[in-house]
Amino acid sequence: LSLFGLHGSRPLAEQVAARLEIALAAHEERDFEDGEHKARPLQDVRGHDAFVLHTLHGGEGDSANDRLCRLLFFCGALRDAGAARVTAVAPYLCYARKDRRTKTNDPVTTRYVAAMFEAVGIGQVITLEVHNLAAFENAFRCPSLHVPAAPLFAAHFAPLLRRVPAVVVSPDTGGAKRAEQVREALESLRGAPVSAAFMEKHRSGGVVTGTLFAGDVRGRVAIIVDDLISTGGTLLRAARACREAGAAEIHAAAAHGLFTGGAEDLFAAGLFESIVVSSTVPPFRLAGAARARLTVL
Ligand code: R5P
Repeated sequence: LSLFGLHGSRPLAEQVAARLEIALAAHEERDFEDGEHKARPLQDVRGHDAFVLHTLHGGEGDSANDRLCRLLFFCGALRDAGAARVTAVAPYLCYARKDRRTKTNDPVTTRYVAAMFEAVGIGQVITLEVHNLAAFENAFRCPSLHVPAAPLFAAHFAPLLRRVPAVVVSPDTGGAKRAEQVREALESLRGAPVSAAFMEKHRSGGVVTGTLFAGDVRGRVAIIVDDLISTGGTLLRAARACREAGAAEIHAAAAHGLFTGGAEDLFAAGLFESIVVSSTVPPFRLAGAARARLTVL
């Protein structure tokens, strides 16, 4: 087995290697002045089960497209160098939200990403908490391993909620299954009932609508669960609805903290007791008070 960590994902890859008690495999990446690059393994991979970790968010001096391209080319190079199987480990998988046509002639980008994985000979994909599991499994026809974030969040919140009534809230109906996984895991860990609530949300042309709120949050600790935080708008809407409906305390848990423009408002709003994300995306866009208030599991 060899595990490679591409530039920009090295710290995460090193953590994974340490857990596995192995050293990261050696490779080189060179950038050229025309914007192209070259990456190759610096060790023999013939017959190896090779894993390449690269988290596919953009913004840290590069873009999601750059990262995707580097992952594809390096995996292709490993196959050409004789690796028996190449697994792409993308803790955050870009374009997972563009999994269907919402307008005439829309691209189904998730499928195109999957087709490019197939084209370079990637034999397996591992990712964490994708936007829509069914769409992901439909698009990626090679074997895939989807790691849910629910056990991580349940283990984090269970000790904090031993005696208080709690409710897990989905900020949209599309995320109801994800929230249900967290609710079940939390209920079983704390050995006491946890209820469910969800909010209506429709997005069209960048405009978000829907005000229906179902479920009882009054006097309870509410944990709003989502796959990712981008602008933070989705969590803010849900938190305001929870506050209006009488929640005693509000927490947010999202697998991927992208924190694009405006996400500081989440921290400044004074609505959240805590905001928790996993380590799939480093919180490089947050600074100062916002960064200090974020919990990265
Ligand atoms: C959308 O359906 C996703 O599950 C997230 O709720 C959404 O992408 C979060 O984006 P934002 O933080 O910009 O509202």
